[in-house]
Amino acid sequence: MHIDKFKVEEWFNKYEYWAKYDLADTCVDSLSVNELLEIAKASDVEEIFNRKLNYGDIHGSERLKMAISSLYENQEVDNITITHGAIGANQLVMHSLIERGDKVVSIIPTYQQHYSIPKSVGADVRCYVLKEENNWLPDLDELEELVGQDTKIICMNNPNNPTGAVISDDMMIKIARIAEKSNAYILCDEVYRGLKHEGNPFTESIADIYDKGISTGSMSKVFSLAGLRLGWIAANRDVIDEVNHQREYNTISVGILDDYFAALAIENKDKIIERNIEKVNTGKKILTDWLDKEQRVHCVMPQAGTTAFVGYDIPIKSTNLCAKLQEETGVMLLPGETMELDGYFRIGYGNNFEQLEAALGIFSEWLKKI
Ligand SMILES: Cc1ncc(COP(=O)(O)O)c(C=O)c1O
Repeated sequence: MHIDKFKVEEWFNKYEYWAKYDLADTCVDSLSVNELLEIAKASDVEEIFNRKLNYGDIHGSERLKMAISSLYENQEVDNITITHGAIGANQLVMHSLIERGDKVVSIIPTYQQHYSIPKSVGADVRCYVLKEENNWLPDLDELEELVGQDTKIICMNNPNNPTGAVISDDMMIKIARIAEKSNAYILCDEVYRGLKHEGNPFTESIADIYDKGISTGSMSKVFSLAGLRLGWIAANRDVIDEVNHQREYNTISVGILDDYFAALAIENKDKIIERNIEKVNTGKKILTDWLDKEQRVHCVMPQAGTTAFVGYDIPIKSTNLCAKLQEETGVMLLPGETMELDGYFRIGYGNNFEQLEAALGIFSEWLKKI
């Protein structure tokens, strides 16, 4: 099966291992097992070390699925299946629901899976491109026109990577109405749901507001536990049955240690999310101060997540800008071209604040010379 190169991952493979200042990372300061145990004050941890490492519960433990269901309004244990990260969740949904010739609307910029997987199975993929002047939010009339009456699935990401834009609950309901006219599914990648910077960190989930809404999530961003490689799908029973049927071929189960630590983390979600919101707001403040001073860049400030999508006024392609910057200074950014939008770069601000501040200073000096 042919599939396009995953541009973001390729960039990481080529540049991350020698970056002196990694501003491309999208996680919030990852937790160690000890830090997680400290936060959770877990008393039953001996039990997990004595457990035999068999396949465990095939579709994920009841305890984990109960914890995940607490992140939603209406999703019960039976509406959830456990996957290998959100990357596994997205892939399973798309391979379960999309066939050759199906019309798929993908809202970009987004994680490349959302258009390259449908394209690889021969779907008719139409990309709806978000614009900075609309605060990176969809224009609903334009979206409705593109979706029409014959779309099988809308693939999207809320809160958005790379822009940090948040689609309001009200707008999400309107998008669901657009999908309904076409009887379309909505796959909403919600890996950053739980990291809204102000107010309730959780936006409404598409799975809670639309019967054909499918939510994918994971431990990577909101819970700072990317190393667990654990994600999930929340959707109606028919979708979950279909996904589980596909899942037999590529997952069997996730590791029981991952399942256990994920449950523990979600059971302590308030403490972990409070920690992480504080961190992203610290990083965002450093970024805001830099953006205020830096004349050659512009940015609609992110409302959630860990990344900002920054535009620049220099006539150079974003891949060249980022490559040159890293070669000359060691500062790593992610070029917008890897997310199909030139003239921008993505910056992660959830980590290493001293590094972030130092790297932004170095970047400013470099910008003066270019
Ligand atoms: C929008 C989005 N979806 C999915 C993923 C993959 O997440 P996971 O680590 O849970 O597989 C990422 C990772 O960066 C992402 O940004």
